[in-house]
Amino acid sequence: MLLLKEGPLIVAKDNEKEVKQSIRRWWASNPMTYAAEHGTTAYESGDGIHRPVEIGSKEFFEQADQKFYEWNSPLHTPKGNFGRIFDYDRYRGQAILEVGCGMGCMAMNWALHDAQVTGVDLNPVAVQQTRRRFELFGLQGRIEEADGEQLPFEDNSFDYGYSWGVLHHSPNTETSIDEILRVVRPGSEVGVMLYHRNSFLFRFIVEYVEGYLHLEKDFLSPLRLASRYSDGARAEGNPHTWPVTKEEVRDQLFSKFANVKMQVLGRDLDPIMDTWIPRLSRIVPKPMVKALARRWGWGLWITGVKPG
Ligand SMILES: C[S@@+](CC[C@H](N)C(=O)[O-])C[C@H]1O[C@@H](n2cnc3c(N)ncnc32)[C@H](O)[C@@H]1O
Repeated sequence: MLLLKEGPLIVAKDNEKEVKQSIRRWWASNPMTYAAEHGTTAYESGDGIHRPVEIGSKEFFEQADQKFYEWNSPLHTPKGNFGRIFDYDRYRGQAILEVGCGMGCMAMNWALHDAQVTGVDLNPVAVQQTRRRFELFGLQGRIEEADGEQLPFEDNSFDYGYSWGVLHHSPNTETSIDEILRVVRPGSEVGVMLYHRNSFLFRFIVEYVEGYLHLEKDFLSPLRLASRYSDGARAEGNPHTWPVTKEEVRDQLFSKFANVKMQVLGRDLDPIMDTWIPRLSRIVPKPMVKALARRWGWGLWITGVKPG
């Protein structure tokens, strides 16, 4: 694969089909189960023992959701899970698109709030499991296998479009954001969570500890280093993870949007601090951890409005 650095945003220019196929295959073999070991389905319920559950069973979805909700606990409100970022009341009965639905947890929350949900994912396991989830919980939704870089929808078909933790795994992040912009109606909002390059996780763990101290930079390109030591690192072989900076979001990725806003999400800070000094996150005063998380967190939640 030929990688060009166009500004600091990495874009795949060669062998795109093969790269896409490897991304599809990797996520199908290592789906987003939220288990302690990426891609597995063994969950721990407080006693230290990891018990396997059957993928596609009700228990599987409940366990996976519990972990996903716990991880994102600051985002929930009495109005619903992820109520701080999703305005469920505003979109009741309206057409919502999720790009990269994974196991379908967020899509299910929209369906529970009476939205007309469409979810797409590049990998067939995610599509099969999200369909299964909707069936099991008696929900309505349209779930399709599709590439976020080439959405199979007409222009101006959705009232809201979002993507959570996905488009930094696709070789052409900008193209996939342009696609969401194309398919939402003028005046509609779009929300995208992308990994943040100016984060502790990237600058300290990936670049400094793995790249510099462990000398991995002598063996791996910046993209390989990021892909190897961020998402699903212990599962090995993640083909593409390239986080973005706020500047790239403002000047490139969201330059066609109006009213662009960004928030740093730093739920990962506590475990990272504890890798430096055990229990450090419990010793440092909470307001300080929160302030650090808002500056150096791993997630960037970006919203913008389609002009028109
Ligand atoms: C980290 S998981 C996130 C899934 C889900 N949004 C969540 O938060 O649990 C990344 C997902 O992105 C999907 N994906 C990667 N590239 C994609 C693309 N070009 N189009 C659609 N989905 C893609 C993968 O198949 C995988 O399911």
